Parts: sequence; C-alpha cells; structure tokens
Amino acid sequence: MSNIEQTLSIIKPDAVERNLQDKIKNEFKINGFEILQEKKIHISKEEAEKFYKVHESKPFYNDLCTYLSSGPIIVMKLQRSNAVLENRKLMGATNPEVAEEGTLRKKYGISIDKNSVHGSDSIENAEIELDFFFKD
Ligand code: CMP
Repeated sequence: MSNIEQTLSIIKPDAVERNLQDKIKNEFKINGFEILQEKKIHISKEEAEKFYKVHESKPFYNDLCTYLSSGPIIVMKLQRSNAVLENRKLMGATNPEVAEEGTLRKKYGISIDKNSVHGSDSIENAEIELDFFFKD
C-alpha cells in the first residue's frame, strides 16, 4: 500500500560540526527515503524561536533556540511511504540515552539537546515545518 508522505528532517549543529551529514543522509537513503530538497543554512535565534514556537512554554525553550542557531544545519524534505512515522522510528527517542540500538540518535546523539536530528512529529506539523524552510 502506498501512503506517500513528506516530512522535514534537520541535521542539527552537533552533527554538522562532526561532519556526519553524509552518513546520516545515507541512512535515510538506505531506509527508503528520497531527499527531494535539501539546503545547508545557518538560522538566526529569532528564526529558531519561530520554528520551535510550539515549545515556547517549556523550560528548555531558550537553550534549544540558542543551540539550533549556534551553527550550520541541514534541512531536508524527505519522502517515502509513511514518512513521518518511519522517520521518527529511524531517529529513535528524543534522548539518545534511551533511544533504541540502531537509531540515528543512539548512534550519533550526544545528549537530549545535542541529539543530532529533528523530525516532524505529525503529518500536520510536517506541512507547517516544510513550509517554514521550503516555501516555494
Ligand atoms: P527535537 O525533536 O528537535 O524537538 C525539540 C527539542 O528540544 C528536542 O528535539 C530536544 O533536542 C530538545 N529538548 C531539550 N530538553 C528536552 C526535554 N526535556 N524534552 C524534550 N525535548 C527536549
């Protein structure tokens, strides 16, 4: 059954800094994702605040936005069947310490903040997040 979806993935500053982007992109490809669009950007703190607005009330919001704007990131439009869920499975739990073996965050994440990748958590948010970075 084909249920083709698109989702947003971000390779975060900790992973770009360690030059892990090719390894991570390859993981997406071997897991059936097509990278439809990608760009390397360095966003401002204000842009990070807009992107993570959903977390505005959280105690970690300020640090999170400082971190995402601390260095270059790679944003990607990914496509495959059930892309949102499949990407979340491939990433693993938010905290690398509890992420399952074989997941991106287990393999590459350093901490809950420096967890190497972001992925949209629902189809609705995927549309919003893709629009944020790839509005044509
Ligand atoms: P991400 O999937 O990009 O979405 C929000 C980010 O906040 C999350 O990954 C984590 O890197 C970061 N974060 C920091 N502290 C927490 C926390 N206690 N719970 C959830 N996310 C956190």
